[in-house]
Amino acid sequence: MTRDQQEINWRVRVFDSLSYPTRVLKPDGTIIAVNDKFSKIFNESSSSIVGQTCRKTNPIHFPNQSFPCDNSEECPLQKTVKYKVGQSALLHTIDISGDDKWEDRVFSPILGDDGEVIFVIESFRDVTRINVLERLYGDARELIDKVVQSSVSAIIAANRRGEIILVNKAAEELFGYPADEINDIHIESCYAEGVARDIMKKLRDENLGGKGKLPVTRIDIINRSGEEIPVEMTAAIIYKDGKEEGTAGIFNDMREKLAVERELQNAQTQIGQTEKMASLGRLAAGVAHEINNPLTSILLYGNMMREKIEAENPLSKNLDYVLEDAERCRDIVKNLLAYSRQSNTSKEVFPLERLVTDSLRLLRDQRLFMHVEVVKELVNHEVLVRADLNQICQVVINLIINGIDAMEENGKLTLKTSWVEGTEKAYLEISDTGGGIPEENVSKIFDPFFTTKELGKGTGLGLSMAYGVMKENEGRIFVKKTGPEGTTFVLEFPVVTISNEIYFDSIG
Ligand SMILES: Nc1ncnc2c1ncn2[C@@H]1O[C@H](COP(=O)(O)OP(=O)(O)OP(=O)(O)O)[C@@H](O)[C@H]1O
Ligand SMILES: [Mg+2]
Repeated sequence: MTRDQQEINWRVRVFDSLSYPTRVLKPDGTIIAVNDKFSKIFNESSSSIVGQTCRKTNPIHFPNQSFPCDNSEECPLQKTVKYKVGQSALLHTIDISGDDKWEDRVFSPILGDDGEVIFVIESFRDVTRINVLERLYGDARELIDKVVQSSVSAIIAANRRGEIILVNKAAEELFGYPADEINDIHIESCYAEGVARDIMKKLRDENLGGKGKLPVTRIDIINRSGEEIPVEMTAAIIYKDGKEEGTAGIFNDMREKLAVERELQNAQTQIGQTEKMASLGRLAAGVAHEINNPLTSILLYGNMMREKIEAENPLSKNLDYVLEDAERCRDIVKNLLAYSRQSNTSKEVFPLERLVTDSLRLLRDQRLFMHVEVVKELVNHEVLVRADLNQICQVVINLIINGIDAMEENGKLTLKTSWVEGTEKAYLEISDTGGGIPEENVSKIFDPFFTTKELGKGTGLGLSMAYGVMKENEGRIFVKKTGPEGTTFVLEFPVVTISNEIYFDSIG
């Protein structure tokens, strides 16, 4: 055997041992050789195939397969000849048992001495398994994507450098970044300084939720506008081949939950306060009733004596002191009864602003206001309330005096009415520019006999009386704000919704 023959034999053996069915084509599509694998698969001898064209045999060998034979732009053989580089095409067929089959065809050109393509080797590779796996993987990925995207928790993943590589819709909303911006930010800018590093330290700590895991933790994140948002988060390190590849965090916005908790706490404090007021009210009513009867006798017999005793009598002055103090006791009893809501009310309908004008008129001692500027802001002249005008005037007077006392007779006192048309509550606000109520006293000011004023100046009954009176009149009194700039007390009244005609009838 010559060297040339040996060479040809060797090449034919290689061609026949290829595990992929392979054929050699001329540029016009004439099949000049097929390997053993090809003959075996199509159960035809190579001599019956050779000499035919691929265009003719394709429909026989590959039924159901649409091969773009007539389109030179699409036909991989023609493209291989034209561009002189290998081409590949993924073709879909249905096999004998009716299953989907995917085939990868690879076309490799063989160039002649003149550089033109003289032959093309075409091999067939069954990629059905790979394709099915790829699609399964794609489906699983799509499912995971959907789960991540539809989660109400915000999910963020970052690579080792801290660059964000995955975010879901909830994270965009929580952090306030539009989708096209969030991928450009660094994970550290989602937290206050040092927090991201602290999280990483905890993640690597085996004693905290296990290595690479962060148990549920309460922290604040920083959103796009720099606002701190309380969240509960968990996180994990993503490992690949034992090496840290990135981190993933899941965040839950706590704002709503915390607000509800705060409200609940306030409501509990309120209930405690109401219970305290109720028992103090019962005590006050008991004391007032017990004192009322002997007091009435003291005043009655004292006044009878007053009429009999001459002014020059040395005992006359002492009797005046007894009567003065007895009257003071009567005022205390009156206030106690008002606090415990045991006094009689006589309600009437009046415009809210009358409270301001009448109370100021009743405060005849204008010396009180010497260095105090009184500002009236009376709006919504038409808003009507139903209450015991005299009782409420006493409330307002006490608030005015308290305000003046707090300003040490120097400052600005504002009386402001307000009502939003269509709503059911109207308000009278009394503000001063005094030093405010110390925090530890705020919960005590409505208690009977709580006073910070010097002996003889205040009994500490003004606000407790106000509390009882407002309750009796279906209203409310509360401190809106207090601090070094001053204090604002608010009286809240239910609005009377009757037509003007009826109102004028009732007062006319
Ligand atoms: N506007 C205010 N600014 C600062 N502290 C106030 C104000 N109003 C009330 N207080 C505090 O609340 C306490 C209780 O007020 P309250 O009107 O019940 O009693 P009083 O003014 O001390 O005495 P009384 O009103 O019986 O003469 C006051 O002693 C004071 O410490
Ligand atoms: Mg007072």
